[in-house]
Amino acid sequence: MAADDLVELAKRRGFFFGSNGAYGGTAGFYTFGPQGAALKRNVEDAWRDRFTIREGNREIEAPTIMPEAVFEASGHLDGFNDMLVECPECGASHRADHLVEDATGIEDAEALPGEEVEALIADNDLACPSCGTPLAGAPVENFNLMFATDIGPGDAQPGYLRPETAQGIFVEFPRLKEYARGSLPFGITQIGPAYRNEISPRGGLLRLREFTQAELEQFVDPEEDEPPLDRVEDVEVRLYPATEQAADDGEYLHTTIGEAVDDGVIGSPWVGYYLGVAQEWYERVGVDMDRFRFRQHLAGERAHYAADCWDAESEVGGDWIEIAGFAYRGDYDLSKHDEYGDDAFTIFKRYDEPKTVERATVDPDMSVLGPEFGGDAGAVAEALATLAERDPDAFDAETVTVEVGEGDAAETHEVDADVANFAVEEVTETGEHITPHVVEPSFGVGRTVQTLLAHAYREDEVDGEERTYLSLVPEIAPQDAAVFPLVTNDDRLTALADEVAADLRAAGLAVAYDDSGSIGRRYRRQDEIGTPFCVTVDRDGIERDGPDTVTVRERDSAAQVRVPVDDLAGELAALRAGESFDALVDRYETVATDVETN
Ligand code: GLY
Repeated sequence: MAADDLVELAKRRGFFFGSNGAYGGTAGFYTFGPQGAALKRNVEDAWRDRFTIREGNREIEAPTIMPEAVFEASGHLDGFNDMLVECPECGASHRADHLVEDATGIEDAEALPGEEVEALIADNDLACPSCGTPLAGAPVENFNLMFATDIGPGDAQPGYLRPETAQGIFVEFPRLKEYARGSLPFGITQIGPAYRNEISPRGGLLRLREFTQAELEQFVDPEEDEPPLDRVEDVEVRLYPATEQAADDGEYLHTTIGEAVDDGVIGSPWVGYYLGVAQEWYERVGVDMDRFRFRQHLAGERAHYAADCWDAESEVGGDWIEIAGFAYRGDYDLSKHDEYGDDAFTIFKRYDEPKTVERATVDPDMSVLGPEFGGDAGAVAEALATLAERDPDAFDAETVTVEVGEGDAAETHEVDADVANFAVEEVTETGEHITPHVVEPSFGVGRTVQTLLAHAYREDEVDGEERTYLSLVPEIAPQDAAVFPLVTNDDRLTALADEVAADLRAAGLAVAYDDSGSIGRRYRRQDEIGTPFCVTVDRDGIERDGPDTVTVRERDSAAQVRVPVDDLAGELAALRAGESFDALVDRYETVATDVETN
């Protein structure tokens, strides 16, 4: 199914649609309709279950607006740019790297310098996609993707809408590490909106200006902490390593997580672990594994913070789209916040046994340094202390040379070694401060929703009639079930159907009620939004001896069984949790399929 058709279907069936239609629409913003909001919530709950609860991690909720200093430290202020080219005729803005990629087949134009992209635009006679005017000579500029805002009135502090939920976790590390009792490894998750002022939003939920991320920041001691790789070592994956992408005859690598880590194809065992967990999770929520792969980032494609990165990609409408990234962020983020922020973004790592170490110290005689260096005396003393740690042998000479100040203001000073009062002491240390490394699985929730819809779409024939349906797994489908009275002119049936729907809702199931139109049409309506089970109250179920029964129809097979009303909530809850419908077929009387009766 083409991507545009999917977006159209999503709108028609209440999954998602462009926002603010009454005001001409706003590109890059989508509203989730009743089905989509429920589906998205189910995806988030399934993610929370797997990546937070089952991993023993903790979830937080941080503000979406953060002050400028955070993004100065994180590198987003300087480095979070896309290449923009503006049409000199109509003024439309375009991603310059995407225009070049589409026209030339170059895969990673984002990694090229701006001048080279300008040259490629000219050499390939690229024109504005909006009005056809040639773009040769138009400058390619860096455009920062963050939305700027003011925090407070008057001389307000500049702030930005967060471009990733991750920063809300990193900046709170000094407190979060206390909740983890100062001990590694620990993982913090967050699900929430992030904002990027995309140059060309496109493809339904694929490139939005406001979107939902589900992120896990796993803090580890790079020297000691190992993931529980044995839990996923046998998980089979289809990998597309950077080397294969670069080769003319590059191929997928079909392997297991254990082998890929052992062979060094996946460099970090933690990244390998989460690729395995993610593969199983995607399978659980209904991604078609024949339309799924893990692709390693090419060197020029990696974000400014990432030492290595793999994307989970799904095929939608003939294109591969990124639906999650698994980045080894190293100590980049915590080191930066340690440098720019006021708190310590380190962990105290206790040694098994205290260690006695020699430490070089100085105790400069300030009554000499003061008169000699005036305002620089303090800086000279500090420079002597740093030098003692770095190069104790420098104090063997009669004079010691230190540099103070930076850049053009740097000055070299000579200090008499006696004045420095250099000494080597033995000290006992119980541990050291280390900067944890970060491994980050980061999921796009909207892109996952779009993938699930694309992969669930089916067409077939039931009872001689063509139908389309969404084969969503019960855990993820917007509705758990729908309840119908078979006919609406029998009070006994409508009363029982009302009661059944109310009881199922009271049991925590999301249940639709429909008494409009033929039973066949009602089944089709539910099939189209992916409701996995339809419960029909019919005369047969209340007129026979014994407890009242209803029919339960499974969406994909259209098979039906007759289930006692008293068992219904329990059976539907079990089906939602993953029990196969075949188990009900074995236990209960089966019924002929979709019969038109109304
Ligand atoms: N935190 C990773 C990303 O937003 O892409």
